[in-house]
Amino acid sequence: MRHVQITPSILNADFGRLADEVARIPGADWVHVDVMDNHFVPNLTFGPTMVEALARATDVPLDAHLMIEDADTNALAYVDAGCGSVTFHVEACKAPVRLAREIRKAGARASMALKPATPVEPYEDLLPELDMLLIMTVEPGFGGQRFLDLCLPKIRRARELMDKHGVETWLQVDGGVSLETIERCAEAGADVFVAGSAVYSADDPDKMIAALRDRAAAATGG
Ligand code: DX5
Ligand code: ZN
Repeated sequence: MRHVQITPSILNADFGRLADEVARIPGADWVHVDVMDNHFVPNLTFGPTMVEALARATDVPLDAHLMIEDADTNALAYVDAGCGSVTFHVEACKAPVRLAREIRKAGARASMALKPATPVEPYEDLLPELDMLLIMTVEPGFGGQRFLDLCLPKIRRARELMDKHGVETWLQVDGGVSLETIERCAEAGADVFVAGSAVYSADDPDKMIAALRDRAAAATGG
């Protein structure tokens, strides 16, 4: 049985009242913060100053998902801003091993993300360097997109590689995760689930977190 974690994305929350919005999800394991630079993805959100302010506004740890170019030079600012986990995209990084080690050394969990068209196999030997692997289940850039079932075999392969290497690396999925799709992700081997629109479009976001958690746990025999 895997330990299921739900990490709601605030991308679909009200940006004018972020502290209040985060206060609505006390049951979250982490708050997933989508950082976008309008270059790596065609959308722009916030930078380290905003993230630092958010870290001060909540006791729930922050899980930064950096959808930014030049992660090698820009990622550490998010550890300094108070994030407990920092995810960089391998497609935006020149030296992923060095960066993962720098993030860990600075005191955060190091995580690497793969876009839907990026295979996992070339990164097999990097898994022990990572605290989490993020497999995107939509093209990054926007909330509210439809879950891509074509990513499920990659989640399965990633879980097999983790089992093979005996690593404790968490396996996160992000994009289109809802009550309808979370079981498929959990069965395939994911244990950390980002959900943006599913949580923030619910009348009671915290209840939705509990429902998602139950469904994922049931699918993994928990
Ligand atoms: C997409 C982001 C996701 C997104 C999730 O680029 O990385 O975190 O906000 O939102 P939903 O759950 O609505 O797909
Ligand atoms: Zn994200």
